[in-house]
Amino acid sequence: MHERPFEPKRILITGGAGFIGSALVRNVLEQLPGASIVNLDCLTYAASLSGLEELLEHPRHHFVRGDITDRETVRRAMDGCDAVINVAAESHVDRSIADSSPFIRTNVVGTQILLDTARELKVARYLQVSTDEVYGSLSLDPNEPAFKETTPLNPSSPYAASKAAADLLVLAYCHTIGFPGMITRCSNNFGPRQFPEKVIPLFTINLMRGKRVPLYGDGLNVRDWIHVDDHCAAIIAALQRGQAGQVYNVGASNEHPNVELTHMLLKLTGRDASYIEHVTDRLGHDRRYAIDSTWTRQALGWQASKSQWPAALEATVQWYRDSQPWWESILSGQYRDENERLAGLAR
Ligand SMILES: NC(=O)c1ccc[n+]([C@@H]2O[C@H](COP(=O)([O-])OP(=O)(O)OC[C@H]3O[C@@H](n4cnc5c(N)ncnc54)[C@H](O)[C@@H]3O)[C@@H](O)[C@H]2O)c1
Repeated sequence: MHERPFEPKRILITGGAGFIGSALVRNVLEQLPGASIVNLDCLTYAASLSGLEELLEHPRHHFVRGDITDRETVRRAMDGCDAVINVAAESHVDRSIADSSPFIRTNVVGTQILLDTARELKVARYLQVSTDEVYGSLSLDPNEPAFKETTPLNPSSPYAASKAAADLLVLAYCHTIGFPGMITRCSNNFGPRQFPEKVIPLFTINLMRGKRVPLYGDGLNVRDWIHVDDHCAAIIAALQRGQAGQVYNVGASNEHPNVELTHMLLKLTGRDASYIEHVTDRLGHDRRYAIDSTWTRQALGWQASKSQWPAALEATVQWYRDSQPWWESILSGQYRDENERLAGLAR
């Protein structure tokens, strides 16, 4: 661990209008009072600026609409920053199976452009936000050990392959030119403001609206859930105390089969099992993810504190219950106009 934590002055956060990025903006503003943020996001379908509305005029938060694959835009946004956290990505596995092109463009080419620009501008630290999906799948045998940082990369989906490619680029830059890059690989996140194509918001919102929930295959696929604020705390810890060339696994040892999650959500929304609609399994569906974050806890002095179920899941469901205008605007498509309006105000 570094003796003195790195204290960034100006951080470029990419993808800060998405689920994890917007939580990271909030966490950085709160936890790093000496840091200002340039938030670069091109506002894809997954972005929601209304989730950041009260922060658009914050003196330490500057929103810039722009694409990480556009070198000139990236150069302008990164100029004067001493740290970069790359959160921007195409993030939905099902979409990557339908068409992988945007995934290669943003997740691979976008990362390369950020790395080149950070190198050119001599940024002090670069953190790549990655995923446990780069390791592929474990079997359902609970004795099979969880992913470690040394587990070979074996991505199954085009999404995971694009993230693995980006990770390898970061590590190659570290190795060949001494680039100050680090990687966090986190398990499945839950919490407020997650785009309702992902399982927890999708199921919660469907059940609240009296609609059935599509459960893939036999429902036995296991995911290891962590609250988005615990993930953000790990990202900040890695930025401040991590070492160049290192990978940090991030998880809360909170494994649950999808069918169990579904029953918890049914209970929390007062619905019964007739609301489950069994649907054909996702192609190449990974069976089990489980992440071993021992090294991260030791090296960074971080640990998850907000991910405990059922309390944290209950609080998340409550957030969606209390935030109907937020998700209704996404379901109706109105959020796109709202994004345009707010992006205009932020200029
Ligand atoms: N959601 C999870 O459970 C999870 C778990 C581990 C790691 N991750 C990683 O965290 C990151 C964020 O995930 P998320 O769930 O918040 O995703 P998200 O889809 O909610 O948000 C992605 C954001 O990136 C922006 N973006 C996309 N392409 C861009 C481009 N070319 N230029 C600028 N901005 C662009 C989008 O507009 C959006 O605001 C991803 O890198 C993902 O791989 C996610």
